[in-house]
Amino acid sequence: MSEVVLAYSGGLDTSVCIPLLRERYGFDKVVTVLVDVGQPRSDIERGNLRAKQLADEHYTIDAREEFVKTCLFPLIKANGSYEGYVLGTAIARPLIASKAAQIAKQKGIKNLAHGCTGRGNDQLRFEAIFRATDCRVIAPMRDLDLAREWEIDYAREHGIEVPVTKDKPWSIDENIWSRSIEGGKLEDPYFEPPEEIYGWTKTPKSDKAPQIVEIGFEQGIPVSLDGVRMGGLELIETLNRIGGEHGVGRTDMVEDRVLGLKARENYEHPAATILLAAHKDLEHLVLSRAELKFKVMVDEAWSEMVYMGLVEDPLYSDLNAFVDQSQKRVNGSVKMKLYCGNAFSVGRQSPDALYAQDMVSFDSQTLSQKDAEGFAKYHGFQARLLKRKSI
Ligand code: ARG
Repeated sequence: MSEVVLAYSGGLDTSVCIPLLRERYGFDKVVTVLVDVGQPRSDIERGNLRAKQLADEHYTIDAREEFVKTCLFPLIKANGSYEGYVLGTAIARPLIASKAAQIAKQKGIKNLAHGCTGRGNDQLRFEAIFRATDCRVIAPMRDLDLAREWEIDYAREHGIEVPVTKDKPWSIDENIWSRSIEGGKLEDPYFEPPEEIYGWTKTPKSDKAPQIVEIGFEQGIPVSLDGVRMGGLELIETLNRIGGEHGVGRTDMVEDRVLGLKARENYEHPAATILLAAHKDLEHLVLSRAELKFKVMVDEAWSEMVYMGLVEDPLYSDLNAFVDQSQKRVNGSVKMKLYCGNAFSVGRQSPDALYAQDMVSFDSQTLSQKDAEGFAKYHGFQARLLKRKSI
């Protein structure tokens, strides 16, 4: 009997994949794996229901804690951001793929499928993981190059209700870290996104009073909110809610996909915006100038690996080793002010601060200002050498 494991979201594309894997590829048994990385409960329930109706066997794996610990904490430490995108979808895909691959291994199944198209990044992220197994990889959406209309008709024929209507044709991908909205009229980069695309953030309003939240960090990881210790999952969920009230964390951008296509993307990510800004601010208090300068390059390389889904490349762990080492002194807290769609830091403290108030203060006598004179004499020295020549 030929069997296949499908990475399943419960959405239209992956649901259509189930009958397609039987009818077009001749599989007798389709096993679906739905990985919970914090998408809405209603999506999970719909997925479970549809899988029950369509698949031969179905697994739901709650990977939320693992997602936070093994993906989002490293992302925060590395200030993960690709062209200004907080990498929400990108960081979750390898975890989802590896859960599907694990089920295939446990069950001795040699075929792995995903529902990604041939236009986006997700096919690459899934397959970087899938192809490292000895399984055959099947991508029905990409192979069959199906038109949306055909897909909708096919879904209806197979009893899959189609929620996507003509006036709300958004393709949404959601996990704890971000909500991404694509498609329909948004594909025109000149078209201003309507308020209805936003699900996590309220319209920023200047008459709403600002709010301050204080984030505590240990070794670069957020551990508390307003002095109350909190697990990462709860902390992120809480900040998404509070930040969302202030309209914090909306991104509307044109993004360079791995294949080279430029895509118009809309995202919401209140907690990510707050945590990344707070983390960067704290780094500036505790890391040396040389560390900060070098780490920007490491962060950029790290983010690119994650965007491309290359987290099994040894460079990814090399970069994480550097990042982890750099975070040992990233302890302390940052006060963040949330106001009218913005999150900015308004105070920071750390037991490991390199900041020396006794030396930098206008009122200080600790350093003799005169000592700087010798330094100043040589500052810009080469420009003076050049000037002397051209006189
Ligand atoms: N452009 C982003 C990425 O490549 C997000 C894609 C999300 N997909 C979606 N259906 N909204 O990571």
